[in-house]
Amino acid sequence: MPIYFNEETKAFKLDSSKSSYVFNIIEGNIIQHIYYGSKIAKSDISYFAVAEKHGGVCPIPSFVTKQYYSADVNKSEYSCCGTGDFRTNALQIRTIKGNITTDIRYVSHKIYKGKPQIPALPSTYADDNEATTLELICLDSYSGAEVTLFYTVYENQPIITRHAKIRNMSSERFTIERAFSSCVDIDDTGFDLVHLWGKWAKECNFERREPIHGIQTIASKRGCSSHMHNPFVALVSKDATETVGQAYGFSFVYSGNFAADIEKDNNDCIRLIMGINPVDFSWTLDADEEFYTPEVVMAYSDCGIGEMSRAYHKLYRNNLCRGEWKQKNRPVLVNNWEATYFKFDEIKLYDIAKEAAELGVEMFIMDDGWFGKRDNDKSSLGDWFVNEKKLQGGLAPLVDKINALGLKFGIWFEPEMISPISELYEAHPDWCIHITGREKTKSRNQLVLDMSRKEVRDYLFDVMSAVLDSANIEYIKWDFNRPLTEIGNDILLPERQKELPHRYMLGLYELLERLIKAYPHVLLEGCASGGGRFDPAMLYYSPQIWTSDDTDAIERIGIQFGTSIVYPASSMGAHVSAVPNHQAGRITSLKTRGDIAMSGVFGYELDLCKFTDEEKEIVKKQIIDYKKYAGTVLYGDLYRIITPAESKDKAAWIYVSPDKKEAVLTYVVIRTTIYMLHIVKFQGLDPMRNYCIEQTGETFRGDVLMNVGYKFPKRFNDYETVVFHLTSID
Ligand code: DGJ
Repeated sequence: MPIYFNEETKAFKLDSSKSSYVFNIIEGNIIQHIYYGSKIAKSDISYFAVAEKHGGVCPIPSFVTKQYYSADVNKSEYSCCGTGDFRTNALQIRTIKGNITTDIRYVSHKIYKGKPQIPALPSTYADDNEATTLELICLDSYSGAEVTLFYTVYENQPIITRHAKIRNMSSERFTIERAFSSCVDIDDTGFDLVHLWGKWAKECNFERREPIHGIQTIASKRGCSSHMHNPFVALVSKDATETVGQAYGFSFVYSGNFAADIEKDNNDCIRLIMGINPVDFSWTLDADEEFYTPEVVMAYSDCGIGEMSRAYHKLYRNNLCRGEWKQKNRPVLVNNWEATYFKFDEIKLYDIAKEAAELGVEMFIMDDGWFGKRDNDKSSLGDWFVNEKKLQGGLAPLVDKINALGLKFGIWFEPEMISPISELYEAHPDWCIHITGREKTKSRNQLVLDMSRKEVRDYLFDVMSAVLDSANIEYIKWDFNRPLTEIGNDILLPERQKELPHRYMLGLYELLERLIKAYPHVLLEGCASGGGRFDPAMLYYSPQIWTSDDTDAIERIGIQFGTSIVYPASSMGAHVSAVPNHQAGRITSLKTRGDIAMSGVFGYELDLCKFTDEEKEIVKKQIIDYKKYAGTVLYGDLYRIITPAESKDKAAWIYVSPDKKEAVLTYVVIRTTIYMLHIVKFQGLDPMRNYCIEQTGETFRGDVLMNVGYKFPKRFNDYETVVFHLTSID
């Protein structure tokens, strides 16, 4: 069993494929965290926990007789506030009397095969033979809060997932003010904090820093996981690189406000808690009601950051994404957004599609601007019926014609939004999130629908279904282009207003679930002005997400690198766009743009009709090549060889198929310098196999490519790329 309970010592030991996680029940039924790290054989390591030092100023609970315990300094499994643990706390409950001291103690536990679903929330899933779950049932006898801590251990993956359930066992209501999903206390033996910060069109910048004493918080309170901070943090050992050292990853399966507090205390212990951001959150439970936190996925590697990423990629591909497209190569698409923006009609769209079909593209996506009276971003969100001025005769004739070209057809929606200039707003001005009496702050001229309201969700389901039923639509791009402000509605009681951001998420997830159940063949692509909601929760519904609104090939190297720290290539939309690039103004070759976009879910986003004959030949070849590489790129193992975190001048990465018979290497020179060395030491290959490089016809053994490396016998210009496709000839 990967989860052991030692009756005698009251030690729990949770073993994933590479890690052990240990805690003990000590005096007073306190749950004392002991160890998380590389796998160990012994289950009783309680000797490690008993000698926490404190200077006598720490509160000592009256139950302590044998052990030297204070909540102030000891490691906690799920820290509560008010009894002497003054660090950042995972749980805080306000009772009806108004006090917030919270103190949970172990009561009982259950260990069973498999993994339960979290009601109404997205989460990873597992068969009974893949995972084992521990439910640790605890009680705060004063408030009557029963807290169940869930731990699922994936036996063959270095993964442990966590979430919590809080149930009101008393007859009086109480309010949850903080309910984090995970809490880990680790001695700081020399860690750096890694996180992915960003902004619109520059998401997922990799940042690595030594934690300072005090709390540093990586968080969003924008109502979405956000461009600014991805819901992910890692602690990595000082020596950690892509290939060596320890990495503890924490990834939050949630698309709303989140927080990860990383607190280095005065005894050099790091507490890391992750969960729903307590700012703008509370949840009131009446007797017998319960609340579930979303899931945190903890991945552990003792072989570097690269191995941690591969663990996330595998888990998210196999145990998070769902539906028909989960393991399939995705259709090469063309999207009209950067080709036409709002200015199109059915003739223009058909022209692009016709050209696309001739070049080998497989799906045409009609982006924003097809509905209501939408000629710019000032109106019509919510009016999800066809603008017949642009598309005469409606959708079906256009879709039929595009299908007749051999292309699938996809469509853009931004379901969660409403334009104040729209028929929907005229009919239902109260459907947006708002505080009556306060001015409504617009962003991109739009407001946000209140997804917590059933009538809103029903409207969206009906109106979207009507569109989907009206023609052969095989793809949806689900966009979300503004954060939430003036969060409130006239429905929830005053004491429940802070429930709205989470109720919004629950409503969104319900609608997504309803739609994917009703339209299982439709491929969903998430989007939030690019990567504003690139998180594991969205991957539960949409196996691919538009990575960034910045389509510049060189900017994309960093964005895709940062995103790949957690998310697999199969989840990252990546398109070739026009030059000069619309965001960065940079000019790169069509080859470079194609080579970089091929490290994700590949497509084009430009006016294909404007290509020269020579460019058309390049595109045809790119599509043939991508279809050859896609299986390896989307579902293989990624090894980041030269990363933007280490070098501003060049980058290299390789995808290796799980059987190691195939690989796709990309090498980019960003800025050339005199006598620059162009040597790439491959990774992840089978050392014993011989590989043929399709592009050069050369053959090398894996051990040679990995140890000696490949020396490119040429000079490179700025922005020049090479892609090598390797096939084993043994
Ligand atoms: C933001 C998206 O990220 C773009 O790709 C495009 O769909 C626009 N919205 C359309 O308004």
